[in-house]
Amino acid sequence: MTTVTNIQRRRFLGQSAIGLAAYASLPKFVAAMGDMQGFPKVTPNKANPQFKADVEFDLFCSLGSVSILPGQNTKVQHYSAQLKTGPKDTLIDIPGSYLGPLINLHQGQKVRINLYNQLPEPTVTHWHGLHVPANMDGHPQYAIMPGAVLVYEFEVLNRAGMNIYHPHAHEATATQVYNGLAGALFVRDAEETALELPSGAYELPIVIQDRRFDQQNQLVYARNRHDHMLGLYGEQILVNGHANYQIDVESRAYRLRVLNGSNARIYKLAWDDGTPLTVLGVDGGLLAQPEVKPYVMLAPGERLDVWADFSGRNVGSSLVLRSLAFSGVLPKMAERMGGMMMHANQLPVGSEFAIFTARVTKKVSDSPKLPSKLSTIATHSVSNTANPNKPLPIAISESPMAMLLNGKAYAFNEPLPTERIKLNSLQLMEIFHNHGAGGHGRGMGMMMAMAHPIHLHGQQFQIVSRTINANHTEDYATVRDGFIDTGLKDTVLVMPGETVRIIKPFEDFTGLFMYHCHNLEHEDMGMMREFLVYA
Ligand code: C2O
Ligand code: CU
Ligand code: CU
Repeated sequence: MTTVTNIQRRRFLGQSAIGLAAYASLPKFVAAMGDMQGFPKVTPNKANPQFKADVEFDLFCSLGSVSILPGQNTKVQHYSAQLKTGPKDTLIDIPGSYLGPLINLHQGQKVRINLYNQLPEPTVTHWHGLHVPANMDGHPQYAIMPGAVLVYEFEVLNRAGMNIYHPHAHEATATQVYNGLAGALFVRDAEETALELPSGAYELPIVIQDRRFDQQNQLVYARNRHDHMLGLYGEQILVNGHANYQIDVESRAYRLRVLNGSNARIYKLAWDDGTPLTVLGVDGGLLAQPEVKPYVMLAPGERLDVWADFSGRNVGSSLVLRSLAFSGVLPKMAERMGGMMMHANQLPVGSEFAIFTARVTKKVSDSPKLPSKLSTIATHSVSNTANPNKPLPIAISESPMAMLLNGKAYAFNEPLPTERIKLNSLQLMEIFHNHGAGGHGRGMGMMMAMAHPIHLHGQQFQIVSRTINANHTEDYATVRDGFIDTGLKDTVLVMPGETVRIIKPFEDFTGLFMYHCHNLEHEDMGMMREFLVYA
């Protein structure tokens, strides 16, 4: 049950003549009709009758309207889905939310998803975190036109974990996600099931986003260059699509599956009463054992699996998850000018605010116990990589005009020598700030340095080391205890002045796999590149 009003397909078709006419005058749509960015023309993938799907569902991207704030409904773009084959709990709607249904998959399942584009613009969906073939990964070259259908078929190879599905259309990821197109996708496996972690009503999704609304409750996107350069920061925190989110809990342990679904905002998560956060897992699933942290940094695209134990708490008491104060993620210039650059954002980046409240409404005597061991993670050492002395570079450069990786903006299928990777290899990579790159002076580059959550498609990676430049240690001290580097990751926050080394496997699939900043404004500005994995 959901209160999202679907604009019916018939009505969509009726409106689309006007919609298309209006859109046709926009350069982006015209460009998308042709082979923009050198994308080859491809006919959308069709179902393969040989592929025997254990799970099949239709996934619709459409326009709708939903109640978010008191008063008028908010117009959104959103996912909805309908199960055709597979276990009943494959799709679970979040009541009253623009977010897509929770998708529950099991390791080993063969999955077919039919994506229906009922939007007045091209779109494509990416399964962030899943290890799937290049042509099933939602690359923008596979974007489909309004009215078209794209069929995805893949086997679930991932271990248990929380993943994301969201659009990845060329230069339109940020707006489509902002307008509401996103959802959580869980993979389950035998190892996780055997732990008997809190499940069902005791396992709760917490999708954190921030949005800006106008007087009529409508979403307002980037208004100026700063909103693009720094990222879009909303003034209203939403959890699972709702403002002022509250959950009623029993006095026992819960499992919170947290996802930062914001376009740009970075959170420093902590409980308001000083209780440390007990972390079970990150992007790529369970840690080897729980980690206890005073706070955890969560950048766009990152996930967190939290053990939240309310046992011993009294009925009527509440616990608030907050974002604490921190500094150093924005360019110094922007941080100093604060309100001016941010156009007096009521929720400045790095300020302190509440995210949601858990209210204890029922006393129970029994609660599951926190397992001391969660999983075994096969870790690699640098000496086992193909290039122990020559890490592949991922150089970040910012300037007032562009955000680049390896000195270049996104260009389809133009891999640099360091972006060509042999199939079934293990690569050492180094992500670092390179303010000299892109033809801009060092001084300006330094001034523009900011934090970037770097996301790599394909298999999860391991974080080997973080090194911070001495000029940044003061700001870094406000975030440094909030990184969890022991698990498998697909997105890593790289602070200004920081160098992060990772080890990433490239197994099973050849083709083009994107890597980019998951500050979605940066991604759409071209802070994205591709690896070409070749056999
Ligand atoms: Cu979450 Cu390439 O994306
Ligand atoms: Cu991804
Ligand atoms: Cu970025």
